[in-house]
Amino acid sequence: MASRYEQVFAAAKADPEAFWAEAAAPLHWFRKWDRVLDASNPPFYRWFAGAETNTCYNALDRHIEAGHGDRVALIYDSPVTSTVRRFTTRELRDRVARLAGALTALGVAKGDRVIIYMSMTPEAVMAMLACARIGAIHSVVFGGFAPRELATRIDDAKPKLIIASSCGLEPGRVVEYKPLLDQAIEMATHKPQHCLVHQRQMYQGPMTAGRDLDFDAEADRAAPADCVPVKATDPLYVLYTSGTTGIPKGVVRHNGGHMVALHWSMQNVYGMKPGEVFWAASDVGWVVGHSYIVYAPLLFGCTTVLYEGKPVGTPDAGAYWRVIEQHKVSVLFTAPTAFRAIKKEDPKAELIGKYDLSGFRTLFLAGERADPDTVKWAEDNLKRPVIDHWWQTETGWPVASNCMGIEQLPVKHGSPTRVVPGYDVQVVDDDGHPVKAGDIGNIVIKLPLPPGCLPTLWNNDEGFKKSYLTRFPGYYNTGDAGFIDEDGYIFIMSRTDDIINVAGHRLSTGGMEEVLASHPDVAECAVVGVADQLKGQVPLGFVVLKAGVTRPEDQILRELVQLVREKIGPVAAFKQAVVVKRLPKTRSGKILRGTMQKIADAQEYRMPATIDDPAILGEIGEALQPLGYAKPH
Ligand code: COA
Ligand code: AMP
Repeated sequence: MASRYEQVFAAAKADPEAFWAEAAAPLHWFRKWDRVLDASNPPFYRWFAGAETNTCYNALDRHIEAGHGDRVALIYDSPVTSTVRRFTTRELRDRVARLAGALTALGVAKGDRVIIYMSMTPEAVMAMLACARIGAIHSVVFGGFAPRELATRIDDAKPKLIIASSCGLEPGRVVEYKPLLDQAIEMATHKPQHCLVHQRQMYQGPMTAGRDLDFDAEADRAAPADCVPVKATDPLYVLYTSGTTGIPKGVVRHNGGHMVALHWSMQNVYGMKPGEVFWAASDVGWVVGHSYIVYAPLLFGCTTVLYEGKPVGTPDAGAYWRVIEQHKVSVLFTAPTAFRAIKKEDPKAELIGKYDLSGFRTLFLAGERADPDTVKWAEDNLKRPVIDHWWQTETGWPVASNCMGIEQLPVKHGSPTRVVPGYDVQVVDDDGHPVKAGDIGNIVIKLPLPPGCLPTLWNNDEGFKKSYLTRFPGYYNTGDAGFIDEDGYIFIMSRTDDIINVAGHRLSTGGMEEVLASHPDVAECAVVGVADQLKGQVPLGFVVLKAGVTRPEDQILRELVQLVREKIGPVAAFKQAVVVKRLPKTRSGKILRGTMQKIADAQEYRMPATIDDPAILGEIGEALQPLGYAKPH
């Protein structure tokens, strides 16, 4: 007999429209859909076409009307400011409504874009929900990005307004956001009409008269705004993510499908019940923060934790256990890198024993490969299921997971388990032919993608097709390579493009190469992601200097590190580069980045048949040795 998981999977595959209509039923719709799935214009599929709804209404007002206004919706826990604040659903709704009123008074209306450049404060969550309330499209930019990255996003999204924090707090330093925002606006061609600045105590940013307004003052004097009905197919947000070049891709999320998929996932993937506490230890600037700090827990009637701190150092490696105990967290979702950091500081997990984790059920990991050592350490010490699950900014919610609310399947270390119902994942070779179970290939998802996944890129339908749909017609190309074994378990092995995951943060090595190439002394360069014990991967640069450059190499390398920090931001974690005489290439001139990465990681590699000059590989190995790379571990 088919298992419960197999039954649900088969139901979603046999009749997706019936499946997702049922999932949509608990949510509020101002107008019901004409079609659950409008497939009239492939490859642009539209879920819940014709329906009208409001995501903020469903996340807040709906629960108040059902009598849950006093339930805590948001817990802000900030060890870096020694603060804990709780907001009931009603308090959060009232603040969001007033902020939405302030946005309306400043001329922001349905369809307008609002960029949010904020640190991990409740005001960031309020800003997102306030946009959703009035149908404005938010675009949150992660605080670790530099002004140039912010400027690129300003020019693409063309926001009417920007909401920013005056600063963010990283252990040991205050990151002054407001001057970074000012620089970005200066660089951008598009200029926002206003900036709403949330002045934090630790640093008050300078205000530009006529343009900049105080967040608190504007929200305090505004009249609350009601929820504006929007089409299910209207964008809720645009989230920029690394593509294969330095130009980020604006992933669009529609209101209707997003709401339905996230709501469904809380129960079925994460095994949550309304009223329980869910904690995604990420940042609102990433997709994990959008989906599982803000929208999914609130849509499902859970309490969400917004944590402004780190897994270690704020104050110690017991921080996560303290938060779980203090706020009665049922499920924690974070990146494996956080657990590697904890394991490094507290290898015997002695701090776990100091806290009462009796209410804690499950740990979910995603964002990068969950290495079996870390998973095992977490399992042994937490004595609870540790669930690796796989997804991407583009999909917005898990593609492969052990679906804890459906049926807990046996775990295979190294695998995020099986395909989540609603997705049709396949593995194909470079010509698009399906491969045998166990064989590595390109991981693709058959169209149409389920609700919640990206319908297109912001203002760029052609880019959407080119980036994801052209290589394997009829399929969405995930950009990940891996295999599905005989039992249907997925294994994600690597990317097929130049994206790397550094401490769970997605970055483009192509973007870093563009920055290195802009240095006047650099003739050629390559950046690859090499293995790192803490961050999973870190970028490593190879540069060939222009003929005749006589300045000391050390100085040039320091300038390159500084340049990436300035242009992309500290989040790139670009700290190492080497000078080489030449780069290994194929006869057609393609740089052999994969081979260089293998040399650096001291992995076996096959001599590429098309290599121009094999001797270069030896030179690369020698250049890397002083940095501690290219040595057997
Ligand atoms: N604003 C400004 N700067 C930021 C920032 C922000 N919001 N977030 C990170 N940075 C800076 C850091 O301070 C660091 O700067 P430094 O080079 O001066 O030290 C740099 O960006 C790199 O940050 P990160 O890669 O996060 O490294 P870290 O050493 O500060 O911390 C971990 C490492 C593992 C503790 C941290 O990455 C972590 O907690 N990760 C787990 C949770 C997570 O973030 N998941 C994301 C996806 S689910
Ligand atoms: P992001 O868009 O930042 O969420 O990054 C998505 C990418 O991170 C995926 O395409 C994978 O390459 C990688 N990734 C995310 N989760 C996992 C996982 N559980 N196992 C392996 N890789 C993962």
